[in-house]
Amino acid sequence: MVCYLKIKLFWRFIVNIVLLGKPGSGKGSLVEILLKSVGCQGMIHISTGNILRQNIKDGTELGQLIQSYTEQGQLVPDEVIIDLVRDRLSQSDVDYGFILDGFPRTVAQAEALTEMTKLDLVVNLQVSDKEIIRRLSGRRTCRQCGSIYHTDSIGDPMVCEKCEGELFIRSDDKLEAIAERLQVYRVETDPLVNFYKKQGILCRVRCTGKSREEVSALVWDQIMVFSLKKMEENIERIFANPEARRELAEALAEGRRIGEQLRKASIPTYEQMHTPCDI
Ligand code: AP5
Repeated sequence: MVCYLKIKLFWRFIVNIVLLGKPGSGKGSLVEILLKSVGCQGMIHISTGNILRQNIKDGTELGQLIQSYTEQGQLVPDEVIIDLVRDRLSQSDVDYGFILDGFPRTVAQAEALTEMTKLDLVVNLQVSDKEIIRRLSGRRTCRQCGSIYHTDSIGDPMVCEKCEGELFIRSDDKLEAIAERLQVYRVETDPLVNFYKKQGILCRVRCTGKSREEVSALVWDQIMVFSLKKMEENIERIFANPEARRELAEALAEGRRIGEQLRKASIPTYEQMHTPCDI
């Protein structure tokens, strides 16, 4: 064990996670909470959407090639995105585990990813279409630090509460682009649920009506479950070594504490305040 709770553990396991979920299901928000609040030191967030947007902003050759796809809510061609992710995963900073957000999105991408690396957990964030439209049409992103907000939760004037940067509306958050993205998701990405179910690494998190913190606590629980399974496989090795036993006990206590903290931080969502929870 034990994932990245304590990367000093000499018998640690590395957790490689994929986040599946419709556009606006909260993938970016979840990673923001997991990596910042929980302190998952060493884990790397790889968002293909962020990488593509940065290329567009910088006016690179890749940015010019893909701009029209992203603005219309269509997928960038598989060969372009697969090469980009292969290149990113070949860098040494992913050695302590990663969270892939926005990749894979097609069966061809998932097959290519299987050849590139081993995955431990695929988390499928489930949100209704109605809620997706509400979320994306009110999303604001900080131009400076990338923090994600919703108009329901930010005051006036709309500036980033972390760095006071300017908040902007993503070009693919227009209603026509949202509809196209949802349709593309149904056709191209939905089949990945079965793809990973068959591999036995899929877990489903129902997110409608749950706050970002509640969702991150649920995902954290899944990471702990995975880590405990890995621990069982190595139980003899761990118990033969007093230092490893002590570190394991510490890591588990820390894991529980993190889960509790996330739960305590839960604040009601817009839906919880306005409609009964359907989960
Ligand atoms: P990408 O950036 O990956 O977009 P996406 O998958 O459409 O996801 P989003 O970033 O829109 O949403 P999210 O799930 O991260 O939600 P968020 O946390 O922001 O891709 C953009 C484009 O790049 C694609 O359309 C495509 O063209 C291209 N591309 C990227 N990867 C590709 C690939 N592999 N292959 C081909 N093309 C690719 O949250 C949304 C809003 O909801 C926010 O306002 C947030 O505050 C709010 N919110 C979040 N959680 C909650 C909650 N629990 N309760 C209430 N509100 C919440």
